[in-house]
Amino acid sequence: MNERYLDESWRQSMRVKLDFNNMMSDQLGNRGIYKRELESMQSLMDAAVVSMRAKRPIMRWRELPYNQDEIVKSIIADAASIREQFDDFVVLGIGGSALGPTAVQQALNHLHYNDLSHEKRNGPRLFVEDNIDPERMAALLDVIDIEKTCFNVISKSGGTSETMSQLLIISSLLHEKLGTDISTHLIATTDESKGNLIKIAKAENLKTYFIPEGVGGRFSELCPVGLLAAAVCGIDIRELLAGAAFMDAICDSQRDVWKNPAYMLATLQVASMKRGCNISVMMPYADSLRYMADWYAQLWAESLGKKTDWDGNVVNAGQTPVKSLGVTDQHSQVQLYTEGPFDKVLTFLAVDKYRCETMISDGYFDVPDVSFLCGHTQNELIAAELRATEYAVSKSGHLNHIIMMPEVNAFTVGQLLFLFEMATAFAGELLNINAFDQPGVEEGKKATYALLGKQGYDEKRAELAAIPEKNEKFII
Ligand code: PA5
Repeated sequence: MNERYLDESWRQSMRVKLDFNNMMSDQLGNRGIYKRELESMQSLMDAAVVSMRAKRPIMRWRELPYNQDEIVKSIIADAASIREQFDDFVVLGIGGSALGPTAVQQALNHLHYNDLSHEKRNGPRLFVEDNIDPERMAALLDVIDIEKTCFNVISKSGGTSETMSQLLIISSLLHEKLGTDISTHLIATTDESKGNLIKIAKAENLKTYFIPEGVGGRFSELCPVGLLAAAVCGIDIRELLAGAAFMDAICDSQRDVWKNPAYMLATLQVASMKRGCNISVMMPYADSLRYMADWYAQLWAESLGKKTDWDGNVVNAGQTPVKSLGVTDQHSQVQLYTEGPFDKVLTFLAVDKYRCETMISDGYFDVPDVSFLCGHTQNELIAAELRATEYAVSKSGHLNHIIMMPEVNAFTVGQLLFLFEMATAFAGELLNINAFDQPGVEEGKKATYALLGKQGYDEKRAELAAIPEKNEKFII
């Protein structure tokens, strides 16, 4: 692998930056955030900086860029043999166990990776099966040959019904085809000691990767949860981790929030929430980054959407993430973003240098309204459209900022993931909430268990049975 990430000048040239001009009143006038508003949050910001330092040992996802040398070696070795033996690699998981692998694959591989010929792909196809729509499992089984497929079942808790249902279906099919030993075709990624998946993995003698203690689902992309699928598909996971370490060094060392991209990003979002901007629109201007918006949506929503703060006050905190794609959604959502309510903050993800340049061909010179495009590239067009949208949104007084990526590569994607993780954790500190639990998700999980007759959920079953019957007159 190319170890360009060891070269300091290359690293600096690949630095991901935050441009928050269009959040500030200097650019936006009255609709923008005044410096004094942020200054009034200074003591909160200082306390959050101290807290981020103090809590580093328990935020164990922050060590992932540094403490996985042996695991990375093992993943790379396993990935090489999977690439040789299998046509397809299927991830069975949901939430944090699926969104990261999907986002990184889309970001760093060919946009039609699965449709490439085997020779061009040089690795198995990747399917990340998160949903349990019954049609989806049936459809998957129509397009893969189970004997030529390696499955990776991922669950931090080791008990999520969706993932366990997939595991049951797949392990039964594997047993039918392969007999008792299915360990050649199934890998588990889970907690080392807790949950049911580890028990099953041991019983089936599966190769198992562990999700470290203190690394929750949505913060797990940079551990084996995301690294195995990425390595199998030929992504340089060392560069990905080097990018995360690079961003960590920028954020962890910089106590001045005004110079710290993650902390500033979080501070601006929290200041916006205080003004009633409770929607966070993530709008990448690159197809490669479109699923980063899904990954971010989970991270931001599940971490910050909390009923109570650390002091037990009911705060109903959070900001609703909305996914958008530039330029596609200029033709669908941007009308709302320029003229609609002042209840949102737009995050544009901009790419300076795309992985290819596509020339717009000459033609139709007799139609000047079309031929003005001739001689330009689509790269110029997309850059102009981002600039134009930024202008239109700012002109109408809507808060927005840009995260600028020099290129989309493993190093910058590692930075981006880490930037958002740090920003989320910092926002949690500013809001004085626990950004690392998900009681609302657990509530739904428990209700599912109760409805499907799982033992130990009688009380929840009774609670569900006590819900008033639905009124027919409201079903029309
Ligand atoms: O971030 C989280 O913890 C959750 O969204 C989980 O990722 C999701 O619920 C899946 O859980 P698990 O990995 O335990 O199967």
